[in-house]
Amino acid sequence: MRYADLHQWSISDPNGFWMEQAQKIDWVRPPSKALFDDNAPLYEWFKDGLVNTCWNALDRHVDAGRGEQVAVIHDSPVTHSKRELTYREMRDRVASLAGALRAKGVQKGDRVIIYMPMIPEALEAMLACARLGAIHSVVFGGFAANELAVRINDAQPKCIIAASCGLEPGRVIHYKPLLDGAIELASHTPDFCVIFQREQEVAKLTDGRDYDWHAFQYGVASAECVPVEGDHPAYVLYTSGTTGQPKGVVRPTAGHLVALQWTMKNIYDVDPGDVFWAASDVGWVVGHSYICYAPLIAGNTTIVFEGKPIGTPDAGTFWRVISEHKVKSFFTAPTAFRAVKREDPKGEFVGKYDLSCLKTVYLAGERADPDTIEWAQDQLKVPVIDHWWQTESGWPIAANPMGVEPLPVKLGSPAVAMPGYDIHVLDEGGNPVGANTLGAIAIKLPLPPGTLPTLWNAEDRFRKSYLDQFPGYYATGDAGYVDADGYVYIMARTDDVINVAGHRLSTGGMEEVLASHPDVAECAVIGIADDLKGQLPLGFLCLNSGTTRDNAAIAQECVKLVRDRIGPVAAFKLAVVVDRLPKTRSGKILRATMASIADGKDYKMPATIDDPAILPEIAKALQGLGYPKG
Ligand code: COA
Ligand code: AMP
Repeated sequence: MRYADLHQWSISDPNGFWMEQAQKIDWVRPPSKALFDDNAPLYEWFKDGLVNTCWNALDRHVDAGRGEQVAVIHDSPVTHSKRELTYREMRDRVASLAGALRAKGVQKGDRVIIYMPMIPEALEAMLACARLGAIHSVVFGGFAANELAVRINDAQPKCIIAASCGLEPGRVIHYKPLLDGAIELASHTPDFCVIFQREQEVAKLTDGRDYDWHAFQYGVASAECVPVEGDHPAYVLYTSGTTGQPKGVVRPTAGHLVALQWTMKNIYDVDPGDVFWAASDVGWVVGHSYICYAPLIAGNTTIVFEGKPIGTPDAGTFWRVISEHKVKSFFTAPTAFRAVKREDPKGEFVGKYDLSCLKTVYLAGERADPDTIEWAQDQLKVPVIDHWWQTESGWPIAANPMGVEPLPVKLGSPAVAMPGYDIHVLDEGGNPVGANTLGAIAIKLPLPPGTLPTLWNAEDRFRKSYLDQFPGYYATGDAGYVDADGYVYIMARTDDVINVAGHRLSTGGMEEVLASHPDVAECAVIGIADDLKGQLPLGFLCLNSGTTRDNAAIAQECVKLVRDRIGPVAAFKLAVVVDRLPKTRSGKILRATMASIADGKDYKMPATIDDPAILPEIAKALQGLGYPKG
């Protein structure tokens, strides 16, 4: 079937389309229909089915004769090690871990926080939860203790599974003190923790609370897969919103299985047995969907890569991994390619490896600039496909469906709407705008299976954040346009979210931290353009009157405060003291105008500006930091 017919079918007959796709999943009890709309505008999929994610990701492949196929390859240049685990080994290890968790009281519906680096045990922990119907929430290792504490309080986990340490190039991330600090800070206390001891740093366990990953599995019976209802939450993944309180995106079990299974052949063009590599981190949605779940559900081999695009040891690492493990489809973020391009612009490392196995490259997580795509295409001689999605969607909203019908690539566009996504561009009043006209990108409800049905413990926030702005639509938070051929162009966020190295961060969250500094009276954080990371956060600080301390020292303290409270991943290194912030007459800070000045872009003087004389002061402060560049 051609792409256009397929998409049309998915929109006009969602039940027919998705029930057909659901046949690729093993059900304990098949659903009677796909879409449950009795509670609209809240929708659910496959609600009356019974199913288990771990069964579909592991056990069924062993039963079907794939037991000896490698399921997971750990390639870790930071520890100079490589390891392979077959589907049979994964099933047995996960069943054993699940058995031990069950023996300590973890049951269907309990929450389990996972705080682990890029090791196969992170996937095992996720799948062990799925086996029991426990709801995991993975927290990215680059977050500080306070961010972990916020998630502990919201998810109220019965158990936390962590590793003793993570490894960033040149430094050990001491997970255990971060975990202890977070538990100390949090008002909720987990019943117990499981610690995977890495040989690079063995952590001291807290008696009576912490159990050793291996030891606590001793003598415990393995767990079978627990069937769960189709709408049972598979996991909660926290993502940045406009405030410091992250949003707990809920992933529904059955829709997740059906949608991810569909994507592997139809978008990523891989068949069972093919090697698929997403060079992301299990702490992000890309890692959930395309390092852990989708490749395993579809019977592929997935790679858990513990390294960086450059420096581990060089800008040829990606090509080595692709060549050595025979990767067919490779998924990374544009930032990673920009980093490689900066170190190896002529692609000298590319020539050192046989990349004939590689058929397609996929980019997501941030806007893919045409230069980067062209560079990658020239070097790798394969299609480089931009695709657009969000933590909320869990799988691509717009992509080039390479396994259905490769469509012409238009640079700057993540291509066309995927099944079930009815993409519209709306003006401020919620009216559809014509082709090539900029507006808010919204998706007509219902969203397809696998997308968020709500936010964890926060249905009101879900409605307010996504449904209330344009009734009948899901507001994506992205602005852009659709051209006459249906190609989508994502241009900017409409909220206070910025994208730093493919990582989604809240400027509002950073402002909350800065405002807690005793000398700071008022502040604003903006995202400024950066050649490598796409955007970088920059903070303006107005100090309390009468403060006599050195401005530079206060700015440095603020940088440290954000690193300590949010974590290194915030990449907050630029802060400057100013006397005043530009505002509208109603008191709204003109962040977009400040960002335009920092980026050296032309901007229109906002008609509502209170005091235009502040803008030159802002420009001067930015010049002091070296902005605009060039
Ligand atoms: N645990 C602890 N700290 C981490 C971490 C983790 N898992 N991941 C990143 N950090 C730290 C980094 O060490 C860095 O610390 P520093 O300020 O002391 O240098 C900080 O967080 C910022 O990290 P990052 O923005 O990633 O920058 P970097 O300089 O370390 O690396 C790139 C630059 C381009 C190599 C890197 O950003 C990259 O690989 N980007 C691709 C991103 C990606 O795949 N995103 C997934 C979205 S799909
Ligand atoms: P996250 O939830 O972390 O995956 O971030 C989602 C956000 O990243 C989206 O809302 C977009 O703003 C941005 N994004 C992701 N993929 C793309 C893309 N291909 N092009 C442009 N922006 C993207």
